[in-house]
Amino acid sequence: MKGFNTRAIHVGSEPDPVTGAVNPPVYLTSTYAQDGVGVPRFSDYSRVDNPTRAALETCLADLEEARHGVAFASGLAGEDALLRTLSPGDHVILGNDAYGGTFRLLTRVFGEWGVGVACVDLSDSSAVEAAFTKTTKMLWVETPSNPLLNVVPIATLSTLAHEHDALMVVDNTFATPYLQRPLTLGADVVVHSTTKYVGGHSDVLGGFVATNDDELAIKLKFHQYAIGAVPGPFDCYLLLRGLKTLGVRMERHCSNARAVAAFLVGHALAEKVYYPGLADHPGHEVAKQQMSDFGGMVSFTVKGGVDVARKVCESTLLFTLAESLGGVESLIEMPSIMTHASTAGSTLEPPVNLVRLSVGIEDIDDLLADLAQALSL
Ligand SMILES: Cc1ncc(COP(=O)(O)O)c(C=O)c1O
Repeated sequence: MKGFNTRAIHVGSEPDPVTGAVNPPVYLTSTYAQDGVGVPRFSDYSRVDNPTRAALETCLADLEEARHGVAFASGLAGEDALLRTLSPGDHVILGNDAYGGTFRLLTRVFGEWGVGVACVDLSDSSAVEAAFTKTTKMLWVETPSNPLLNVVPIATLSTLAHEHDALMVVDNTFATPYLQRPLTLGADVVVHSTTKYVGGHSDVLGGFVATNDDELAIKLKFHQYAIGAVPGPFDCYLLLRGLKTLGVRMERHCSNARAVAAFLVGHALAEKVYYPGLADHPGHEVAKQQMSDFGGMVSFTVKGGVDVARKVCESTLLFTLAESLGGVESLIEMPSIMTHASTAGSTLEPPVNLVRLSVGIEDIDDLLADLAQALSL
């Protein structure tokens, strides 16, 4: 198998056989001419298939070392398609530090539909074991998690899930396939918000589900066209373009995040720093085994509580106060009020004084100077 960057650039993007164009065209078409009734040349309709979308699906599936990849209009649309393979009465175990939107989808949409959800501390193996019921169909894991950057062992939890005939689902949004490939560690399904690092430029929404399970792939593909939450061809082009630089961007995100974490550890206003690259992070050893680096996200609690944390977030000049993550530009936010507000009152609620940084790829000295001035309250 060729290297990651080579595949990111070439798989699905072979030069056009007619023109030699080195990028796949953006196929802005909703339908395709048919050579006879019911004999389409490519597909019958763009909700079912589109060549630009196919190029993206081929490339990202390859990077995840998956036989199948299905693209969606957003990360949550992909999660929705996957969860629709469940039936009322089924049960899902979710990490108690998952992304708030995943929690909301599971509890308020699928919960209404009759799917049971148990939110557990995934670092406590006996709690995970105890959470399985006869109807558990999925163990849903984010590692590193959003926003506390917890890391859990994919291989061990996959074995546990399989012992209970459940699918192991890993949200690989934070790590990306450049740093971690869950399917090679035993997971059954990988989900992504490609809105984040895959797109990489904060200019597109997207989602992706990858698997080596042929039957599941057929169901996902069915949901993709039967429900219709598909990404448009231009979105697919942007995501494919993002993939080509994913490796180099991740290298820089990782080195900048390492420096930001070191800076915060030494800062008087930072109460606790959450970053898997720190030797005292509880998931550090596992992260070293299953990831090739520690990612671009750093969270920290601020001494002085919620008001001081808010002030820090409103004082940065380079770090933009905004939700989302994974773009080239640095972002800062308060999960309890912003990205994770939907977890209020639940076991998933993050500390109120938590600040989450998506460390971009700007010059590190400028980023550290910005944090220093914002923290000089
Ligand atoms: C870890 C994680 N998974 C899934 C999602 C949902 O993705 P989207 O916003 O593209 O629907 C997000 C969004 O922030 C996320 O952070």
